[in-house]
Amino acid sequence: MAAPPDTLRVTFEVNGRTLTALAGETLLQACRRNGIDIPHLCYKPGMGADGNCRVCMVEIEGERVLAPACSRQPLEGMVVLTESKRARHAQRLVLELLLANMPKESAVHDNELLRWCQKLGIAESRFAPRVLPAASHTQPGIAVNLAACIQCTRCLRACREVQVNDVIGLALRGAEAQIVFDLNDDMGRSSCVGCGECVQACPTGALAPADGVARRPPERSVETVCPYCGVGCRLTYHVRNNRIVYVEGSDGPANLGRLCVKGRYGFDYIHHPHRLTKPLIRKEGAPKSANATVDPADPSAVFREASWDEALEAAASGLKRIIDRDGPQGLAGFGSAKGSNEEAYLFQKLVRTGLGSNNVDHCTRLCHASSVAALLEMLGSGAVSNPVADVAEAEVIVVIGSNTEANHPVAATFIKNAVKAGKTLIAPRASLSCASTSRTSLLRRWRRCAASMRPPSARLPGVMPPPRAP
Ligand code: SF4
Ligand code: SF4
Ligand code: FES
Repeated sequence: MAAPPDTLRVTFEVNGRTLTALAGETLLQACRRNGIDIPHLCYKPGMGADGNCRVCMVEIEGERVLAPACSRQPLEGMVVLTESKRARHAQRLVLELLLANMPKESAVHDNELLRWCQKLGIAESRFAPRVLPAASHTQPGIAVNLAACIQCTRCLRACREVQVNDVIGLALRGAEAQIVFDLNDDMGRSSCVGCGECVQACPTGALAPADGVARRPPERSVETVCPYCGVGCRLTYHVRNNRIVYVEGSDGPANLGRLCVKGRYGFDYIHHPHRLTKPLIRKEGAPKSANATVDPADPSAVFREASWDEALEAAASGLKRIIDRDGPQGLAGFGSAKGSNEEAYLFQKLVRTGLGSNNVDHCTRLCHASSVAALLEMLGSGAVSNPVADVAEAEVIVVIGSNTEANHPVAATFIKNAVKAGKTLIAPRASLSCASTSRTSLLRRWRRCAASMRPPSARLPGVMPPPRAP
């Protein structure tokens, strides 16, 4: 990326060091980029500054009061002290106040509040805790313990601004302020879709992965791509005892750190007892018909276990038998969308050059044949040309024949972000028939712009006019 012109840069001083801030950067961002640590809790990279926790207070020469570094932009020649006696006193006092309510045992090993307390030498709080709400476990994947909540609203902003689900609110005022789900419902009985974005945003474990799985650090963390839909979200599997214990979204180009409920919590299949871990060979004489059923818990009525050598030999000799009898045209290879591009390439190579047949296809062509044809006709390429997040740059978004929120929830978050930013979403009737009826659904967003689609000229050719907005 080209560097911004010098007119957009600001030179200022922090703790005696000269720094250059990029256009739009706050004091906190410029300091972080230059390796200067300022305590912060309500600020999270990627989210707008809220400036509510007041942990990041710094001293600015010539100013009477301290300033929150997360919400203040540097000016040319500004002199900032982040570790002066006054700044440190304010930072420590706020941390100590927040620490007063923290439960003895943290639900997460990387509790940011405890980390900053440790860094600034605060072992305990002199202040009395307030009356703490009871923990709740009504959402299967998420433990809610608002005793650890510091009202930083990172969860609220994750739910509202990132996922656009708008489940979380901040109710009441002052010392009574508390995070609520919908109208103060239990999380599991609210309209929460369980995406876990709020859990990922929470700095203290007030919202944490259920069953205390994040209490201890994982033994190792593995970066990979989500195995579910085709959005291609990048994620991190945290592993202990060779089992995935919890998952976090990672900053990939397709998801920018976001995940949906499937990617974040749908990993139990990996250790499911029904999962095949050894090759099976059909028993001699076992029925092979469309109506035959196999008990996945005990397939022994139809199959017997075999070694890999025996299974590969059985498969190879079966394929050879067909080629000898019918020639290569008697065979076809059908690849899986669960494989990587490299695996798809190798698979077609095996079918074409190993087996000598050009009968090779892929399940994706079945569902994407129509979009490939349309893309080829309009763009000259059958492949996707942009990341979904680019809808932010679009004027109008048209969704046809897709229940995006259910099938590709992370892609839907980018569409909802764009609609919130004022872009027009057009979802013709064909899409509405299968659209979610959740109160945050694209359907609802679309209805808001249904009125602007009223003129016949705004209809898509061949698409029925939308129903009147309520
Ligand atoms: S899990 Fe997702 S939908 Fe539910 S409250 Fe958290 S961010 Fe909102
Ligand atoms: S639940 Fe966590 S993220 Fe939400 S306001 Fe409380 S501390 Fe912040
Ligand atoms: S991080 Fe600056 S006010 Fe919270």
